[in-house]
Order: sequence, then structure tokens, then C-alpha cells
Amino acid sequence: MDKLVIEGGVPLKGSIRISGSKNASLPILFASLMCSGTTVLLNVPDLRDIQTTLALLKYLGCDVDRSSNGQIKISPRVIQPEAPYDLVRTMRASILCLGPLLALLGKAKVALPGGCAIGARPIDLHLKALQKMGACFELKQGYVWGSCKKLKGAHIYFDFPTVGGTENLLMAACLAEGETILENVAKEPEIVDLANFLRAAGAKITGHGTSVIKVEGVSQLKGVKYKVMPDRIEAGTYMAAAAITKGQIKIENCPVENLDAVITKLTEMGIKCLVQKDCIQVVGDTEMQAVDIITAPYPGFPTDMQAQFMALMCVAKGSGTIKETIFENRFMHVMELIRLGADIKVRGDTAIIKGGARLIGAPVMASDLRASASLVIAGLAAEGVTEVNRVYHLDRGYENIEKKLQAVGARIWREKK
Ligand code: UD1
Repeated sequence: MDKLVIEGGVPLKGSIRISGSKNASLPILFASLMCSGTTVLLNVPDLRDIQTTLALLKYLGCDVDRSSNGQIKISPRVIQPEAPYDLVRTMRASILCLGPLLALLGKAKVALPGGCAIGARPIDLHLKALQKMGACFELKQGYVWGSCKKLKGAHIYFDFPTVGGTENLLMAACLAEGETILENVAKEPEIVDLANFLRAAGAKITGHGTSVIKVEGVSQLKGVKYKVMPDRIEAGTYMAAAAITKGQIKIENCPVENLDAVITKLTEMGIKCLVQKDCIQVVGDTEMQAVDIITAPYPGFPTDMQAQFMALMCVAKGSGTIKETIFENRFMHVMELIRLGADIKVRGDTAIIKGGARLIGAPVMASDLRASASLVIAGLAAEGVTEVNRVYHLDRGYENIEKKLQAVGARIWREKK
């Protein structure tokens, strides 16, 4: 297994260009299953989760053609309803094929994704909502077996604004009979991007980006050319890297309007964030102050940025807290940050971080994608050498992470085992 080796202590300087969004690309790729003809997607990042999705789309019956510049062409042929365990277990977002398959074929057999390091992550809200549209489910042999005649428009209220659940239902509703009203849905920018793609393909959707989405079903969707939005979490991660190294980085091709919570917290910490049209200049020339953070559904502070900010708080002045409200077990990075010298205590859903730590490099082990990013950030500030093991987590979500960091002066490299 590859590892990343980091010699910390270099203030990062220069510019980093943000790649296309992983979490927007995934649902849009699954939505292309429902589009007749060819869908051409631009700005899709080259990541392991994208490769897994493409493998699944091929398995389901699509021709897939990927060129080196982030362009992917998908042409559905004869679609079959089974998403096998071997593909689903490596990526939970595979469950996003459930809505499209039911809408298209009236049946689906999708492996249950199972839990993961950050929590149980059930799909009960997806299933409950699809049942309201007329689908029936059976759970057997580790699979969700779904069937329906034609999905029917329904009025659905989500108990929690689940991102994946909103996406699955939004896709399913596009080809359902009649009107679907989805209430208390997630408002994440990636959902808006999915809705914009579906609208370009012929869907009738309004209200995306608010907590009520209305969809008038249509008889078919057509493949279109669509450019995926830039990745706000990748952008936030490099902003944190600039801050912790007291560097100065220009984040280019940045979804500035989707980063309010991150910019607000960095500014509160004393970091200058100079916002321009589609870039942010981050200047970390003062000592950071600790802050209190509560993760929340968008537009709240993203759970996907919590671990990276924890690394910042370890070296900031004073004590701060991070309360995680989205996932029940998302503090796996705490023990590893402690190995680097951090002073953190976890009490239930809250981490209490005493700042001012002197971080010293050590071998650390990543447990999930964003936890790995926090260890890289901490490693960039630590004295000596930090080795981040299990880099495959990072490869799921960050395109060319070590190359992008090298380009702004970081001493970081990959070692193959
Ligand atoms: C998506 C993102 C992930 C991000 C998360 C929250 C993708 C591919 N992944 O994950 O990076 O961290 O949103 O912003 O876009 N839940 C249920 N029942 C359900 C569905 C969800 O209890 O049927 C719970 C989950 O266990 C979790 C919470 O709701 O505790 C949030 O999950 P959800 O918003 O669905 O996140 P994902 O779509 O899995």
C-alpha cells in the first residue's frame, strides 16, 4: 500500500487549481443511466470513486469512454438491474443507482452498502421515500431487491435532509408519472448541480437548492454535454493547508459562493481570505485563534471539512470545540492527531481541542478520506517527517494531491510499497 511522506514546516506559496467535484460527479454519472443517447461530462476528476462508478456503469450496460482531459462519454445500451457487492462495497455512493434503475426498469437488485468507518450510514430514508412512489423492497442475501410498476409521483417528507436520499429520489422522480414534491431535502450545491444536469437533459425540476423540490415527471431524458462544478471540499482542504503553514495560496477555479461557512470560520481564526470572482487568496500570516464549530447540513459547516479544521485547531491559540452532528463516528482522526502531538479529548459528539501543540512528525494511519486529509495538513505543519499510510483513502477523493502540494512548495512525495 502506498504512503505519503511529508517533511513539514514549509509555508506554501503559489496557486492551486481545483478539480471537478467528486460528490457532484457521482450522482450525475448515475443519472446518465437514464439519458438516452450519449451524455458527455466535462471536468470529472480522475479519482478512485469515479473509476468504481464507471466500472459499475459498464456492468449495468453502458458504453463508457474516458479521455485524459476529464471528459467522459456515457451511452446506455441494454441496462440490467443488478449492482453487485464487489463494486458496491468499495463505494457507498453506488446506492445512487437504485433510483435510476427503478425509474428505468421497474426493478433493481443493489448490494446493501454496509457501514463504514464514519458510521452505520443506513439507507432507510431512501427506501421509505421510494416506497411512497410505489416501489416494494425486500432485503435478502445482502441485497436490496426493489420492484415497481411505474413509479408514481408522491409527496415525500424526509425526516433528515439526507444528501444521497435527496439525489436518489430526485433522479427517480424525473421519470415517474406525475408530480413529486420532496420536502426537507438537502440543499447541498452538488444537489443543485445534479438538478441542473437533469434539467439540461429534459427534466422538469424546480426548487433545487431550497428545502422543497418539485419534479414533474417526463417520459424520457436525453444525453447532453455538461460541465461538473468544482470541488468545494478540495478547495476548503487546500485553504486549510495554506492556513496551517502560514502560507499564501491562490485557490483557482474555486466555487467561492459555496464556501461561506469555511471562509467565515477561517476568518474568525485570523486567516485572510480575499475572495475574487472564481478564486480565493488565502493568507496565513498571523497566529490562528481557536474557534467553536458545529457541523450541519448545507449551508452549515460541512462535516467533510471537520477533520481538516481539527488539524488547524491543534496549533491555534486557545481551546476550541468541534461538534459533529451528521455522522456518529467521525472522530477517527483524533487518535492519529494525538500521535503527532495534539491535545484533544472527545466527549460524545464533541471534540475539545487544546491549541498551541507542537506537532512532531510520526507514522500515522488514515481511516477515511477526510481524516487522511487532516493528517496531511497536520503533517505539513509538523516538525520532521510524517508518514501517512493507507493513501488509497486520499486517492478516492483528491486528484493528484501530492503533485498539487509540491507545486506550491510542499515537501511531500508518494512511496510505493
Ligand atoms: C454525502 C457525501 C458525503 C458527506 C455527506 C454529508 C457523497 C457521495 N457523499 O454522503 O461526503 O459527508 O453527504 O454531507 O455525496 N442517514 C440515515 N438514513 C438514510 C440516509 C442517511 O440515517 O437513509 C444518515 C447517515 O447515516 C448520516 C446522515 O444521515 O448519519 C447523513 O447522511 P447523508 O446526508 O445521506 O450522506 P451521504 O449521502 O451518505
